[in-house]
Amino acid sequence: MKSIKVFAPASIANMGCGFDIMGMAMDAVGDVISMEIEDGIGLEIDNRSGVELPAELERNVMTPAVMALLAAYGKPMKVKIIVESKIRPGSGIGSSAASSVAAVFALNELLGRPFEPMRLVEFAMEGEKLTSGGVPHADNIAPALLGGVILVRGYDPLDIVNLPVPKKFFCSLVHPEIVVNTRMAREIMPKEIPLRDAVVQWGNVGGLVAGLTFGDVELVGRSMRDVVAEPFRKRFIPGFDILKEKVISAGALALNISGSGPALFALSSSEEVANRVAQIMKEHFAMMGKDSDTYVGSVSNFGARIM
Ligand code: HSE
Repeated sequence: MKSIKVFAPASIANMGCGFDIMGMAMDAVGDVISMEIEDGIGLEIDNRSGVELPAELERNVMTPAVMALLAAYGKPMKVKIIVESKIRPGSGIGSSAASSVAAVFALNELLGRPFEPMRLVEFAMEGEKLTSGGVPHADNIAPALLGGVILVRGYDPLDIVNLPVPKKFFCSLVHPEIVVNTRMAREIMPKEIPLRDAVVQWGNVGGLVAGLTFGDVELVGRSMRDVVAEPFRKRFIPGFDILKEKVISAGALALNISGSGPALFALSSSEEVANRVAQIMKEHFAMMGKDSDTYVGSVSNFGARIM
């Protein structure tokens, strides 16, 4: 029997304007799993994290991710996963991606690394299908696996670009005690967008990529405008517009929904501002009668790793 313990970080998907194509890794929180494999067939998931997860194997995102990897490997294995620490599902900071990534990363290591990282992204995306209503996306998976800021240039074939992380790039993250179901947050979005919105959005995606590449955090901030998902999803977040005004007045470059929410993140060019913004976020949700957790950090250049 072989065993390993791994960590996969939380991630912020979309990064404002980059719905389903941009994401960044955050080291403040993540999933920790232990995995054991031996010859045989079967999968067992033992959840010791204290966070509620689906009891049925087929509803756990790790199951399709592990199955996809083993199918490509061509030899069944007996796999046991112990979930030791878990980002709460429905938080908007890549909980399902952290699980799927931790599982495929651990299994690949135990098998002697038969697969390249891009293949691992594809296997882990099978887990995302479960939570998103059948639409696989890599904007949480790729940063959780590879670290840093990523652009999914294309899905068919998968083309993932690692972008540079500017210096002076701080992130305040708030996770209020609200649950937003990703599938529902996707279903409320229109399937078609007006051309004028598309023009705004792709202008901003270009600005975001250019800002990251040139290390121009002001340009990054100006580009974090989302006219595709935010107008439909902000209804899940009490006082979203008021909070945005407050954090921008406090010096943040932008405030956006993290993934499908309810977590929010604000970018700042100084740690001092980022700390102040986190405090404002906490006070805002307290005023709305919601407890919240806040984190301040920079983007992590490290993705999944052995502990
Ligand atoms: N890009 C995804 C969304 C992230 O916004 O729905 C959440 O899985």
